[in-house]
Amino acid sequence: MYFASSKRYSQMVYRKCGSSGISLPLISLGLWHNFGNNISLSKIKKILFYAFDKGITHFDLANNYGPPYGSTETNFGKIISKDLKKYRDELIISSKAGYDMWEGPYGEWGSKKHIIASCDQSLKRMKLDYLDIFYSHRFDPNTPLEETVDALESIYRSGKALYIGISSYSSKKTLQIYRILKSKKINLFIHQPSYSLINRWIEKDLIKTIKKLKIGCIVFSPLAQGMLSDKYLKNIPVNSRANDKTSYLDKSLITKRNIKIISELNKLALRRGQTLSQMAIAWTLYNETITSSLVGVKNLSQLKENLKSLDNLYFSKDEIKNINKNAKDGNINIWKQSSSY
Ligand SMILES: NC(=O)c1ccc[n+]([C@@H]2O[C@H](COP(=O)([O-])OP(=O)(O)OC[C@H]3O[C@@H](n4cnc5c(N)ncnc54)[C@H](OP(=O)(O)O)[C@@H]3O)[C@@H](O)[C@H]2O)c1
Repeated sequence: MYFASSKRYSQMVYRKCGSSGISLPLISLGLWHNFGNNISLSKIKKILFYAFDKGITHFDLANNYGPPYGSTETNFGKIISKDLKKYRDELIISSKAGYDMWEGPYGEWGSKKHIIASCDQSLKRMKLDYLDIFYSHRFDPNTPLEETVDALESIYRSGKALYIGISSYSSKKTLQIYRILKSKKINLFIHQPSYSLINRWIEKDLIKTIKKLKIGCIVFSPLAQGMLSDKYLKNIPVNSRANDKTSYLDKSLITKRNIKIISELNKLALRRGQTLSQMAIAWTLYNETITSSLVGVKNLSQLKENLKSLDNLYFSKDEIKNINKNAKDGNINIWKQSSSY
């Protein structure tokens, strides 16, 4: 039987999610990889319980996380309906719909049919009455935004989700969906874009829009799927995401140029007394418009290392200058299609 640490709220820092009443932990945990049927339930429990004991109150999922698709939500459901049930009101649980989930024309994208059915499936798999945040996972150029909003409104009004978010939408489409939701008296709660030292696309205009609209921002893949660690400096380790053929971190992204950038950043991190992973996470939180850094982990030791980034969130002006000089775009944004509209 699991009982959470009584010290769980003394170690984490929480930041307001835009102008809403909700605060999110500076570090949130994403379950994209490593929480499906490729890992034992006991290992999953260890990671989730440790995270919660350290004040991570937000767990991020999506319909198709696995492998196989849906299995992460099913596994999470087994844990949230038993061990974590008594803590449900302390947790922010999110899911998403929009990417490929089931066969046929209604198994993905932004139609009302897909989004409503997918949300219902997610709730069933997770054995939940409601989600805290429900996201449109990507912009759909072939569905009117009004139809996607119609689905999100229905989910919101029926209480299946308390808050509505979007992921990987461009600045322009963020403004559009914000306005449509607003016309229905629904606040857009949060945006979830990719962002890291070597993937800085949101700095062009999206982050300014997010700030102006006073919505939250949770950035995903702050470690560039593990590239912002010391693991790829010499070679591609066997036991790494880049070596996993089913993953989305293609070996071709580990270019000589990117390794050079990572090596320089690694030196800067060591000078700060941090590992590169710790500096990479801390750096995403430097801009206070960013509510939370959404990390992924393969095991407990990675989670422990990543949580220690909170020990040094301060960056001097010189450090930021040096980082900016070295942190060039690595051309690794595999989600850029969604934000190209
Ligand atoms: N909205 C979207 O479209 C979208 C897309 C992607 C992700 N997300 C969300 O964001 C979350 C995080 O994404 P992500 O998993 O790509 O994030 P990430 O934090 O950039 O990468 C996580 C991976 O990096 C490696 N790693 C983590 N900590 C490490 C450490 N201390 N030292 C060395 N390697 C380390 C591990 O991979 P190894 O296997 O190599 O050890 C781990 O699985 C996802 O779980 C999901 O919730 C959302």
